[in-house]
Amino acid sequence: MDKTPVMDRLIAPSILSANFLELGKAIEMVNASEADWIHLDVMDGVFVPNISFGFPVIEKIASLAKKPLDVHLMIVDPDRYIERIKKAGAWLISVHYEACTHLHRTVYAIRNMDAKAGVVLNPHSPVHLLEDIIRDVDLVLLMSVNPGFGGQRFIENTYEKVNQLKDLIARKNSGALIEVDGGVDLKNAPLLFNAGANVLVTGNTVFSNPDPAEIIRKLKH
Ligand code: DX5
Ligand code: ZN
Repeated sequence: MDKTPVMDRLIAPSILSANFLELGKAIEMVNASEADWIHLDVMDGVFVPNISFGFPVIEKIASLAKKPLDVHLMIVDPDRYIERIKKAGAWLISVHYEACTHLHRTVYAIRNMDAKAGVVLNPHSPVHLLEDIIRDVDLVLLMSVNPGFGGQRFIENTYEKVNQLKDLIARKNSGALIEVDGGVDLKNAPLLFNAGANVLVTGNTVFSNPDPAEIIRKLKH
Protein backbone atom coordinates (compact mmCIF):
# COMPACT_ATOMS: atom_id res chain seq x y z
CA MET A 1 0.00 0.00 0.00
CA ASP A 2 1.02 3.65 -0.34
CA LYS A 3 2.85 4.91 2.66
CA THR A 4 0.80 7.40 4.63
CA PRO A 5 2.87 10.57 5.13
CA VAL A 6 4.36 10.75 8.62
CA MET A 7 1.81 12.36 10.87
CA ASP A 8 2.68 13.05 14.43
CA ARG A 9 1.15 14.35 17.60
CA LEU A 10 -2.39 14.36 16.34
CA ILE A 11 -5.29 14.88 18.76
CA ALA A 12 -8.72 13.39 18.15
CA PRO A 13 -11.29 14.58 20.72
CA SER A 14 -13.97 11.96 21.42
CA ILE A 15 -17.46 13.41 21.15
CA LEU A 16 -18.77 10.69 23.49
CA SER A 17 -17.86 12.90 26.44
CA ALA A 18 -19.45 16.06 25.00
CA ASN A 19 -22.79 17.44 26.22
CA PHE A 20 -25.18 15.93 23.65
CA LEU A 21 -27.64 18.79 24.17
CA GLU A 22 -24.96 21.09 22.79
CA LEU A 23 -23.32 18.87 20.21
CA GLY A 24 -23.14 21.66 17.62
CA LYS A 25 -21.19 23.82 20.05
CA ALA A 26 -18.81 20.93 20.76
CA ILE A 27 -18.10 20.45 17.05
CA GLU A 28 -17.52 24.17 16.57
CA MET A 29 -15.13 24.17 19.51
CA VAL A 30 -13.19 21.29 17.90
CA ASN A 31 -13.25 23.09 14.51
CA ALA A 32 -11.72 26.20 16.04
CA SER A 33 -9.20 24.27 18.17
CA GLU A 34 -5.85 22.69 17.31
CA ALA A 35 -7.50 19.25 17.20
CA ASP A 36 -6.70 17.23 14.08
CA TRP A 37 -9.53 14.70 13.81
CA ILE A 38 -12.93 14.16 15.44
CA HIS A 39 -13.33 10.72 17.05
CA LEU A 40 -16.82 9.17 16.93
CA ASP A 41 -17.58 6.12 19.08
CA VAL A 42 -20.35 3.93 17.66
CA MET A 43 -21.55 1.27 20.15
CA ASP A 44 -24.20 -1.36 19.56
CA GLY A 45 -24.95 -2.69 23.05
CA VAL A 46 -23.73 -6.15 21.94
CA PHE A 47 -19.99 -5.91 21.27
CA VAL A 48 -19.76 -3.49 24.20
CA PRO A 49 -22.13 -3.04 27.15
CA ASN A 50 -23.26 0.43 26.04
CA ILE A 51 -25.17 2.11 23.20
CA SER A 52 -24.01 5.50 21.89
CA PHE A 53 -25.31 7.00 18.63
CA GLY A 54 -25.79 6.11 14.98
CA PHE A 55 -26.25 7.43 11.44
CA PRO A 56 -28.41 10.55 11.94
CA VAL A 57 -25.99 11.91 14.54
CA ILE A 58 -22.91 11.10 12.42
CA GLU A 59 -24.51 12.83 9.41
CA LYS A 60 -25.24 15.97 11.40
CA ILE A 61 -21.72 16.03 12.82
CA ALA A 62 -20.29 15.56 9.31
CA SER A 63 -22.30 18.53 8.03
CA LEU A 64 -20.66 20.82 10.60
CA ALA A 65 -17.20 19.29 11.05
CA LYS A 66 -14.17 20.87 9.40
CA LYS A 67 -11.85 18.04 10.51
CA PRO A 68 -11.74 14.43 9.31
CA LEU A 69 -14.14 12.04 11.04
CA ASP A 70 -12.39 9.13 12.72
CA VAL A 71 -15.16 6.57 13.32
CA HIS A 72 -14.49 3.81 15.87
CA LEU A 73 -16.98 0.98 15.40
CA MET A 74 -17.63 -1.02 18.57
CA ILE A 75 -20.18 -3.26 16.91
CA VAL A 76 -20.52 -6.89 15.91
CA ASP A 77 -20.56 -7.69 12.19
CA PRO A 78 -19.32 -4.25 11.04
CA ASP A 79 -19.43 -5.38 7.37
CA ARG A 80 -23.17 -4.73 7.46
CA TYR A 81 -22.73 -1.04 8.18
CA ILE A 82 -19.43 0.23 6.78
CA GLU A 83 -20.97 1.51 3.54
CA ARG A 84 -23.55 3.59 5.41
CA ILE A 85 -20.89 4.81 7.82
CA LYS A 86 -18.79 5.99 4.88
CA LYS A 87 -21.82 7.65 3.25
CA ALA A 88 -22.63 9.37 6.54
CA GLY A 89 -19.28 11.14 6.29
CA ALA A 90 -16.55 8.95 7.79
CA TRP A 91 -12.97 9.53 6.60
CA LEU A 92 -11.39 6.76 8.65
CA ILE A 93 -13.30 3.65 9.74
CA SER A 94 -11.81 1.43 12.44
CA VAL A 95 -13.13 -2.05 13.21
CA HIS A 96 -12.24 -4.31 16.11
CA TYR A 97 -9.98 -7.31 15.50
CA GLU A 98 -12.20 -9.12 18.01
CA ALA A 99 -15.37 -8.41 15.97
CA CYS A 100 -14.11 -9.48 12.51
CA THR A 101 -13.89 -13.12 11.46
CA HIS A 102 -12.68 -12.09 8.00
CA LEU A 103 -10.67 -9.01 8.90
CA HIS A 104 -8.76 -8.85 5.61
CA ARG A 105 -12.04 -8.77 3.67
CA THR A 106 -13.46 -6.06 5.94
CA VAL A 107 -10.31 -3.92 5.64
CA TYR A 108 -10.46 -4.09 1.84
CA ALA A 109 -14.19 -3.37 1.82
CA ILE A 110 -13.37 -0.15 3.66
CA ARG A 111 -10.40 0.76 1.46
CA ASN A 112 -12.31 0.03 -1.73
CA MET A 113 -14.82 2.70 -0.70
CA ASP A 114 -11.95 5.20 -0.59
CA ALA A 115 -11.99 5.42 3.17
CA LYS A 116 -8.99 4.91 5.43
CA ALA A 117 -9.07 1.57 7.26
CA GLY A 118 -8.12 1.06 10.89
CA VAL A 119 -8.03 -2.03 13.07
CA VAL A 120 -8.57 -1.88 16.84
CA LEU A 121 -7.07 -4.12 19.50
CA ASN A 122 -8.72 -4.57 22.90
CA PRO A 123 -6.38 -4.38 25.91
CA HIS A 124 -6.11 -8.19 26.09
CA SER A 125 -5.30 -8.71 22.38
CA PRO A 126 -1.56 -8.93 21.64
CA VAL A 127 0.06 -6.85 18.93
CA HIS A 128 1.50 -9.90 17.13
CA LEU A 129 -2.04 -10.80 15.97
CA LEU A 130 -1.57 -8.07 13.36
CA GLU A 131 1.55 -9.61 11.69
CA ASP A 132 -0.35 -10.55 8.54
CA ILE A 133 -2.59 -7.50 8.22
CA ILE A 134 -0.30 -4.63 9.26
CA ARG A 135 0.71 -3.78 5.68
CA ASP A 136 -2.92 -3.50 4.64
CA VAL A 137 -4.15 -1.01 7.23
CA ASP A 138 -3.80 2.76 7.49
CA LEU A 139 -3.96 2.79 11.27
CA VAL A 140 -3.94 0.60 14.36
CA LEU A 141 -5.96 1.77 17.34
CA LEU A 142 -4.76 0.40 20.66
CA MET A 143 -7.46 0.44 23.33
CA SER A 144 -5.99 1.67 26.60
CA VAL A 145 -9.26 0.95 28.45
CA ASN A 146 -11.88 -1.74 27.92
CA PRO A 147 -14.16 -0.21 25.28
CA GLY A 148 -17.66 0.96 26.11
CA PHE A 149 -17.35 4.03 28.29
CA GLY A 150 -15.52 7.33 28.55
CA GLY A 151 -13.76 8.46 31.70
CA GLN A 152 -12.04 5.15 32.60
CA ARG A 153 -8.56 4.69 33.95
CA PHE A 154 -5.63 4.28 31.53
CA ILE A 155 -4.10 0.76 31.40
CA GLU A 156 -0.31 1.11 31.85
CA ASN A 157 0.56 -1.93 29.70
CA THR A 158 -0.32 0.23 26.69
CA TYR A 159 3.18 1.79 26.56
CA GLU A 160 4.68 -1.64 25.92
CA LYS A 161 2.11 -2.31 23.22
CA VAL A 162 2.95 0.99 21.49
CA ASN A 163 6.61 -0.09 21.44
CA GLN A 164 5.79 -3.54 20.09
CA LEU A 165 3.52 -2.06 17.44
CA LYS A 166 6.16 0.47 16.39
CA ASP A 167 8.62 -2.42 15.91
CA LEU A 168 6.10 -4.48 13.95
CA ILE A 169 5.31 -1.52 11.66
CA ALA A 170 9.01 -0.92 11.00
CA ARG A 171 9.81 -4.61 10.50
CA LYS A 172 6.98 -5.08 8.00
CA ASN A 173 7.62 -1.72 6.31
CA SER A 174 4.01 -0.67 6.94
CA GLY A 175 2.72 2.89 6.77
CA ALA A 176 0.19 2.38 9.57
CA LEU A 177 -0.33 5.12 12.14
CA ILE A 178 -0.57 4.30 15.85
CA GLU A 179 -3.61 5.66 17.71
CA VAL A 180 -4.30 5.24 21.44
CA ASP A 181 -7.80 5.49 22.92
CA GLY A 182 -8.95 5.59 26.55
CA GLY A 183 -7.89 7.41 29.69
CA VAL A 184 -5.51 9.76 27.87
CA ASP A 185 -4.63 12.79 30.01
CA LEU A 186 -2.00 15.53 30.29
CA LYS A 187 0.34 13.22 32.17
CA ASN A 188 0.40 10.17 29.88
CA ALA A 189 -0.02 12.04 26.55
CA PRO A 190 3.66 13.12 26.24
CA LEU A 191 4.80 9.63 27.27
CA LEU A 192 2.58 8.05 24.62
CA PHE A 193 3.78 10.44 21.91
CA ASN A 194 7.39 9.78 22.93
CA ALA A 195 6.78 6.03 22.83
CA GLY A 196 5.67 6.35 19.20
CA ALA A 197 1.93 7.05 19.19
CA ASN A 198 0.85 9.29 16.32
CA VAL A 199 -2.74 10.02 17.35
CA LEU A 200 -4.31 10.32 20.80
CA VAL A 201 -8.05 10.12 21.43
CA THR A 202 -9.27 12.14 24.41
CA GLY A 203 -12.80 12.35 25.73
CA ASN A 204 -13.13 13.14 29.37
CA THR A 205 -9.86 15.10 29.69
CA VAL A 206 -11.05 17.55 27.03
CA PHE A 207 -14.77 17.83 27.65
CA SER A 208 -14.74 17.89 31.46
CA ASN A 209 -12.57 21.00 31.32
CA PRO A 210 -14.08 24.50 31.20
CA ASP A 211 -11.54 25.41 28.48
CA PRO A 212 -11.48 22.35 26.19
CA ALA A 213 -9.61 24.11 23.36
CA GLU A 214 -6.79 25.00 25.74
CA ILE A 215 -6.56 21.36 26.92
CA ILE A 216 -6.36 20.23 23.29
CA ARG A 217 -3.50 22.68 22.73
CA LYS A 218 -1.69 21.42 25.85
CA LEU A 219 -2.15 17.77 24.86
CA LYS A 220 -0.72 18.45 21.44
CA HIS A 221 2.30 20.38 22.62
C1 DX5 B 1 -14.22 4.04 24.85
C2 DX5 B 1 -14.12 4.91 23.63
C3 DX5 B 1 -13.26 6.10 23.80
C4 DX5 B 1 -13.71 7.07 24.85
C5 DX5 B 1 -12.48 7.76 25.35
O1 DX5 B 1 -14.89 2.89 24.50
O2 DX5 B 1 -13.58 4.16 22.55
O3 DX5 B 1 -13.08 6.77 22.56
O4 DX5 B 1 -14.63 8.03 24.40
O5 DX5 B 1 -12.84 8.54 26.41
P1 DX5 B 1 -11.83 8.91 27.57
O6 DX5 B 1 -10.76 9.76 26.97
O7 DX5 B 1 -12.69 9.67 28.53
O8 DX5 B 1 -11.30 7.63 28.15
ZN1 ZN C 1 -13.02 5.30 20.69
